[in-house]
Amino acid sequence: MSISFEDRVAIVTGAGNGLGRSHALELASRGAKVVVNDFGGSVDGHGGSASPAEQVVEEIKANGGEAVANPASVTDVAAVEQMVKDTVDRWGRIDILINNAGILRDKTFSKVSLEDFNSVVDVHLNGAIICSKAVWSQMISQTYGRIVMTTSAAGLYGNFGQSNYSAAKLGAVGLMNSLRLEGRKYNVKVNTIAPMALSRMTEDIMAPGVAESLKPELVTSAVVFMCSDDAPTGEIISAGAGSYARVQYIESDSVYLGPEANADDVSGAWEDISDMTNASVVTDVGASMKNVLSKLPRS
Ligand code: NAI
Repeated sequence: MSISFEDRVAIVTGAGNGLGRSHALELASRGAKVVVNDFGGSVDGHGGSASPAEQVVEEIKANGGEAVANPASVTDVAAVEQMVKDTVDRWGRIDILINNAGILRDKTFSKVSLEDFNSVVDVHLNGAIICSKAVWSQMISQTYGRIVMTTSAAGLYGNFGQSNYSAAKLGAVGLMNSLRLEGRKYNVKVNTIAPMALSRMTEDIMAPGVAESLKPELVTSAVVFMCSDDAPTGEIISAGAGSYARVQYIESDSVYLGPEANADDVSGAWEDISDMTNASVVTDVGASMKNVLSKLPRS
């Protein structure tokens, strides 16, 4: 069975380079009409130019596909709303949004300025919020939508010198976790990619020997699956170099320390609390509450 996007309309943010470019090319090659959004700045988010997005549009057209360039910054609410309006005016619907745009301003937490911290949060997290909000009512009214967030191992697990990026990237997972619930009955599915790929953002940190295997197209394969009719919802896929993994949260089996539990009790029981032998996957608030409250003695 081959995934097709005939009659589907997609917006890919940050699609002038790297992963976004790869996502846009693949969606278009499978029949989607694609808005190639990119503000065209440097890796640290300075500058700006329409040409990266325009070049990708030219590539798509040369391959026989349909695409239009859009230079909006994902942080600019009015420009994003205009992009969404223009897309609906042009093609009548929006089926797919890939929140991919991103920048880096790496510095330790001691050294990073609040300005650099907020700029990173603005693009990755607020950008994903602004774009998702702008397409949401359209997707709900169509009873069809696919949104993909882009997280990172640095967001899921943390990374030295990337507190701004980590905070923003895990925020995108939080956004997905609630949107998947609100979108479910309208066939709006929301998933997250945790990519590993060679791009201008990562070319300085990828070890030679590994770098050649980290083709963006191999991440795109998981992203395109998450945009398809048969996509799951609320999933995180870690993808790189042709390998794919599902990411979930687990909680240890809760330990009941009684109605008077104090800090010394928690300290004394830490070995048991932190024992993951009987840990279970938790996918919703109800399951987490059950794990914590199920040990209460019955009266
Ligand atoms: P990239 O630097 O090649 O591409 C990012 C694109 O986003 C650029 O074209 C840039 O102009 C655009 N962009 C930045 N700010 C924007 C804004 N405000 N509005 C619109 N466009 C904007 O980097 P890459 O590697 O392709 O990254 C894509 C996404 O994947 C990012 O969100 C990044 O954080 C994430 N990621 C990448 C990893 C990798 O291994 N390459 C690892 C983990 C996450």
